[in-house]
Amino acid sequence: MPPPSTMRSFSMTSSSTSVLTSPPTTPFYSPSRDYSPVVSSSSSSVRSASSVAAPVSSSAGMPSPTLSNGTSSPVAAPSRRKAITLDTMNQYLRRADYAVRGRLAIRAEELREQLSNGDTSLPFDEIVNANIGNPQAMDQKPITFFRQVLSLVQYPQLLDNEFADKIFPRDSLERARILLNEIGSLGAYSQSQGVPYIRMSIAKFIEERDGFSADPNNIYLAGGASSAVSSLLTTICGGPETGVMIPVPQYPLYSATLTIANATPIPYLLDETTGWGTDTKYIGSVVKNSIAKGVNLKAMVVINPCNPTGSCLSREEIKDIITLAAEYSFMIIADEVYQTNVYEGEFHSFKKVLCELQRDFAGKFDDVELASLHSTSKGMVGECGQRGGYIELVGIDAQVLEQLYKLVSISLCPAVSGQVLTELMVNPPKPGDESYPVYKAEYDAIYKALKERAFSLFNAFKEMEGVSCQEPKGAMYLFPTISIPPKAIKEAQRRNEEPDQFYCLELLEQTGVCVVPGSGFGQKDGTYHFRTTFLAPGEEYVRRIIAFHKEFLQKYS
Ligand SMILES: Cc1ncc(COP(=O)(O)O)c(C=O)c1O
Repeated sequence: MPPPSTMRSFSMTSSSTSVLTSPPTTPFYSPSRDYSPVVSSSSSSVRSASSVAAPVSSSAGMPSPTLSNGTSSPVAAPSRRKAITLDTMNQYLRRADYAVRGRLAIRAEELREQLSNGDTSLPFDEIVNANIGNPQAMDQKPITFFRQVLSLVQYPQLLDNEFADKIFPRDSLERARILLNEIGSLGAYSQSQGVPYIRMSIAKFIEERDGFSADPNNIYLAGGASSAVSSLLTTICGGPETGVMIPVPQYPLYSATLTIANATPIPYLLDETTGWGTDTKYIGSVVKNSIAKGVNLKAMVVINPCNPTGSCLSREEIKDIITLAAEYSFMIIADEVYQTNVYEGEFHSFKKVLCELQRDFAGKFDDVELASLHSTSKGMVGECGQRGGYIELVGIDAQVLEQLYKLVSISLCPAVSGQVLTELMVNPPKPGDESYPVYKAEYDAIYKALKERAFSLFNAFKEMEGVSCQEPKGAMYLFPTISIPPKAIKEAQRRNEEPDQFYCLELLEQTGVCVVPGSGFGQKDGTYHFRTTFLAPGEEYVRRIIAFHKEFLQKYS
């Protein structure tokens, strides 16, 4: 048996000593690697020789402490060495990698600073952050109704202002009063699971979306979907035997959180040839193989619509995944934060498909465990900075729910302002309300702009030599394949970079456009991609990408 440090699966770096000081140089997914879990104690796998602290003598230039009676202390002098160093800190955190804010993003910030310091030597005059789905950092405007109600609940004195009804529409004032009545002060902790009234609103929204009932007691508000994922995985994971299936490519929140939890990610590849679809027969074989290798398979993450691929699952694909979950007893974590970012076809929620299966096949699907996530960061809301979102849990053991409740109560509650925004997202103005026309116009304009930008970028990629891209169906991203010439691959190897990271770094240095290499999300061995958002306005940055790509191919062919 190889030593744990080499067997430890899914490490996202090639070298455990370089992780925080230099970028990872290997993709986190490689079909050729052994992904079997470490079932023996893993603590030794993360302890390096230097982490075993050498005894520190008081001869390090420090006098022994003197007691008040003038005698020397028998206790050794405290050392000036830090207790927490790179080698003694949590090595699971040290290993975790999050490419979206990784090397490229850091370099982009350096270049931005250079530009703002008046450096005119760069071949561009602005940085385009196409690396992160952060709509309001681009040009997406907040929905007026949401911000009106948020301002009123933050500063309730406005409600009594004599000009209030001249500044705010009646329904904004009314909603703020209702929320304040339910919440009290925004400055007070709420129930740990979230304000009951807001959970009822969310349940009503889910019922209207799916046509099946939802229980407010099964809804947990969260500080964005990220914090919901962290709570869920903390509840599920019990060491390296725990396996959680994650898609490849995936949003690296999942691999990073599993690394920190010292659990074992079980990658399943999405199929680029079918528009990044899920092949259930193949996924079934991944399930069987991992169980045969001794993994305690607890959950499967599905991101739909998908970050980074921009694909959407069909109802049939969802049904097949639920059928596998019923057969092999694992929980489904359905990340549905992009449920309104759908440009082709229709969004099918896992909850709805599960309820349909439960209705149509009595008993067969009753034990399926599902956690669905939603967020205020995406869609036409795009309020990433407000940190709102929720999980709906279905079919979860009541005692496990108690433990999850305990976990979330340790953090007291999610920000109440984020909870309010979540309520507004799920209960926006309706036809007939004073704010509805403005809300509808704003919502439709954001949707239209996103769709246009998605297809304009997609059409540009279609025209580029050596680039192929699946049609954008949902989310905020395109994930084109790039064929990187062998000479460029050699150059990347010489620089100890992944070829797609090298490509993306060059793109950034030449154009100021920041994207994320496919290796940060995982990709099939021998294929190269990058992920770009389509949030940036205008065509200028697209022209810069096209010109760069042409030059890159010429230079390295
Ligand atoms: C698939 C997916 N899930 C979750 C998140 C995290 O979102 P939040 O801002 O709600 O934490 C993101 C953010 O980009 C995402 O793409």
